[in-house]
Amino acid sequence: MNPNDLSKKLRDSNLYMLDVRDSDEFSDYNIPGSKNIPLSDLFKLENMSKIPQDKKIITICPHGNMATIATFALARNGIESRVLEDGLAGWSQVLHSVNAGKNPTVIQVEKIGKGCLSHIVISQKDAIVIDPLYPAEKYLEIAKRQGVKITHIIDTHQHADHVSAAQQLANLTGSPMYESKLEMWDRSANFLDDGQEIMFGNSKLRVIHTPGHTPGSLSYVVDEKYVFIGDILFIESVGRPDLRDKAEEFAAQLYDSLHNKLLKLPSDTIVFPTHHGSSVTSTNGVFSTTIAKTKEHDILNLSEADFIKQVVGVTVPRPMNYQKIIQINKGTISLNPSDVPDLELGPNRCSIAGV
Ligand SMILES: [Fe+2]
Repeated sequence: MNPNDLSKKLRDSNLYMLDVRDSDEFSDYNIPGSKNIPLSDLFKLENMSKIPQDKKIITICPHGNMATIATFALARNGIESRVLEDGLAGWSQVLHSVNAGKNPTVIQVEKIGKGCLSHIVISQKDAIVIDPLYPAEKYLEIAKRQGVKITHIIDTHQHADHVSAAQQLANLTGSPMYESKLEMWDRSANFLDDGQEIMFGNSKLRVIHTPGHTPGSLSYVVDEKYVFIGDILFIESVGRPDLRDKAEEFAAQLYDSLHNKLLKLPSDTIVFPTHHGSSVTSTNGVFSTTIAKTKEHDILNLSEADFIKQVVGVTVPRPMNYQKIIQINKGTISLNPSDVPDLELGPNRCSIAGV
């Protein structure tokens, strides 16, 4: 089964997703609702009997090889099953779009296997794409469907957990790409700094420098109605400093960005983050919050000293392949697009989960 098809059938109660990786890999990252029987255990009769005979069975592994062996093992026991094509690597590339706001229009594009969020903001016939994800062709499809032109391509910060499709989308559209002036780049781009503004359609995007996750993280306020905040603030928590060795300094910057910049925005400002945690539920498929709601996060009611202590004290594992992904996003090394699924395999780890 194709990963896109699977994404549309996740709520199908007739589906039984059987992940055949080892249990520690499964507990680290899995497709919600899937069950785990490691391939080596699948050959045991007592495990075979756990598999429902009356459901459509999809076998899952990183790339489809182990899952293929699993289908043979199941077939020998008279159980029909299908392999998830390209496995979890393919799953990690599925993009879903949903209408997330009107006037100006916001379309949220989610990489559902990773909880990465990107946004298209449309004003009249102009569209700005914020934090585009691979495969970049998805944004062209959406722009075509909406009858708009992609006029600006922007990242909020140098991502460490996924490959930015900004360069690829700029190549495909011929539209300008914008990056933070306050981060180090080995690629050419237009650079954005605190206070700068971009006009598109009849809307205005205003840039705020909000360091703390990375030193150059930018947040974008559109028409004083929406704020696209990258990985500084989430629906369920706050961002984590991206450099562990400077965690204390970054945590202090994070506190300042949150309390003295973002939380000063009007309470009804709609907040669109660049990720959501696996425990967060959407509202009608949209992952967003408001400044008022984020003020309820316990961590945002701590003193600066306690905030820093808590942020520094939480050890969050670094995203897989983060060093290589940063080098690609920075433009230091070139990318073969076919490597993206493997590079991005695994969960996102940008937030301080549970805080
Ligand atoms: Fe990030």
